Amino acid sequence: MGIKEFDIAGNRIVIHELEDVCDSVTGRVLTGSWVWESALFLSHWMSNQAQTKFDFTYKKVVELGAGAGVPGLTAARLGASRVLLTDIESLVPALKKNVEANGLGDRVLVSQHVWGSDDFYSQLDELGEVDLVLVSDVFFDAAEMAALAKTLKRLCGKGTTVWAANEVRPLTSECLIELVNEGFEIVELATQLREEFSDNSTSANSEVFAVFELVPVNEDSGRKAEVSSYIGTIDGPQLE
Ligand SMILES: C[S@@+](CC[C@H](N)C(=O)[O-])C[C@H]1O[C@@H](n2cnc3c(N)ncnc32)[C@H](O)[C@@H]1O
Repeated sequence: MGIKEFDIAGNRIVIHELEDVCDSVTGRVLTGSWVWESALFLSHWMSNQAQTKFDFTYKKVVELGAGAGVPGLTAARLGASRVLLTDIESLVPALKKNVEANGLGDRVLVSQHVWGSDDFYSQLDELGEVDLVLVSDVFFDAAEMAALAKTLKRLCGKGTTVWAANEVRPLTSECLIELVNEGFEIVELATQLREEFSDNSTSANSEVFAVFELVPVNEDSGRKAEVSSYIGTIDGPQLE
């Protein structure tokens, strides 16, 4: 808890983690009060690997279940022109504090968004077509995936990319299967981050993390919703 600084491939990200980790109304633990390793993994992967194929410059980015917001803030540091960080209402003040701590208030907005609800659509309309959606460590409750899928489908236009990073646990596969049932093709992307990840900010073992691309399957496309991987280029965990 307190203030933490992360060096993401030369970009400094300052994060205030919350001291009060329970919602004052519901008493539920606010899991987005602190930075999860998946958020760091996704941020290092975007900075070291994705950036060679994906140009962040002038992109519009939305992060869902952002918690402390590290991946979205990293996208802004990599050149995104507009970033919308979203999470449940109790986490919005801390997210705003993190935007200010990084001097990114001109490009990064914060909004409440509960998956599946209509609460942030006026801000989305202002944002226009979204280029990139980021999520990290949100695959822990299969019952939440239908709502997450609803939001993702609302966000995805023809040119939208969705990247999701997660620690691979038994629950991860359950969540991915639910997303397939909701009409997403899921591709595990190649990640080779051993050195960058373990030399910076965390002692976590990079091999237990994965990045997935989620593609909404258009029923007319003839493609099937399924889970697959870039066989031969994966340097990390494979889905069972
Ligand atoms: C394990 S934390 C991960 C936080 C952050 N993405 C990270 O990796 O550091 C899960 C996040 O998802 C958010 N979340 C869970 N269910 C949600 C829902 N139904 N709508 C919006 N956010 C949700 C939580 O508030 C929390 O911030």
